[in-house]
Amino acid sequence: MPDLSITIAGIEMKNPLTVGSGTYGHHGRFSQFFPVETMGALVPKTIRPHQWPGNPPQRVLEVPAGLHSSVGIPSIPWDQFETEDAPRLKALNLPVIQSVIGRTEDEYAEVVRRCTDLDAFAGLELNLSCPNLKQGGLDFGYDPDAAYRLVSRAREQTDLPLIAKLAPDYSSLVPVAQAIEAAGADAVALVNAPRAMCIDADTLKPMIGNGVGALSGPAIKPMAVYMVWTLYRAISLPIFGMGGVATYRDVIEFMAAGASAVAFGTVSYVDPMALPRALRELEAWMAQNGIDDVEQLVGAAHDADFERPQSRRVA
Ligand SMILES: Cc1cc2nc3c(=O)[nH]c(=O)nc-3n(C[C@H](O)[C@H](O)[C@H](O)COP(=O)(O)O)c2cc1C
Repeated sequence: MPDLSITIAGIEMKNPLTVGSGTYGHHGRFSQFFPVETMGALVPKTIRPHQWPGNPPQRVLEVPAGLHSSVGIPSIPWDQFETEDAPRLKALNLPVIQSVIGRTEDEYAEVVRRCTDLDAFAGLELNLSCPNLKQGGLDFGYDPDAAYRLVSRAREQTDLPLIAKLAPDYSSLVPVAQAIEAAGADAVALVNAPRAMCIDADTLKPMIGNGVGALSGPAIKPMAVYMVWTLYRAISLPIFGMGGVATYRDVIEFMAAGASAVAFGTVSYVDPMALPRALRELEAWMAQNGIDDVEQLVGAAHDADFERPQSRRVA
């Protein structure tokens, strides 16, 4: 049988498949379609350090080849996360990478410290890229200096692997990724969903409550693959790739571009069995093609003599 296991940022995954934060499960509870332990690691919904209602409805809208959404990261009170969600997540028999966000540097530092103290997680994902917030997320994700400061602050708070989730922005992607690498991040995750808008041709108004939203699903996949490919060449950090993944062939594509792990997101809303099916089909494809270790796929689209850059980590 081919070896599907992969270690990314020190996190041992039995296979390279995971889920995009916010698209799978809620409060440590998961659909009954397949056991959550099927995947290599779980990334639950982003949590804030304080309760937050999220954005007004309508929050999601199906569009051709994708989903338009603006959820706004609603968060339960921290006490409830600590006493109800965290124990459920800790009890799972797989690495859990908790995604976190704040409105300010201080809030990010606070939620990183609190999550570390829970002793429930294999790693933390810093959400620097939520497109639907008035404060936080992209305030840090588009600006290399702000991203550097933020990751440095988070680094001081935890010894857990830190993964920075980045926005799909053509001009800031590489400088921001280089800054977070220098500041001590252990991996990057990309892409979050790019900003988008739909306008109703009858009312002439935006179709979702927040006005501005995001676009996810198959429509963004080629852009996401390009961005993974770009960062594979620009930084030394391992990459969690995502954006429109739906099948085992998409997994292969992201891995060949440079991802070590690949996340299923929007597809789970329309085809909840996509991940376990892709896992079976990936394994069968590897066996048929004589690939005995999934790591052989990582970066396979780059020239054989291409070498990734040296680490820029400062501290
Ligand atoms: C409804 C919805 C909620 C999401 N919530 C989060 C979130 O809380 N944190 C986060 O980092 N990304 C969030 N995302 C982004 C996804 O994790 C993923 O990065 C993005 O949707 C691209 O992958 P996809 O095209 O496969 O969905 C959300 C996406 C959707 C559609």
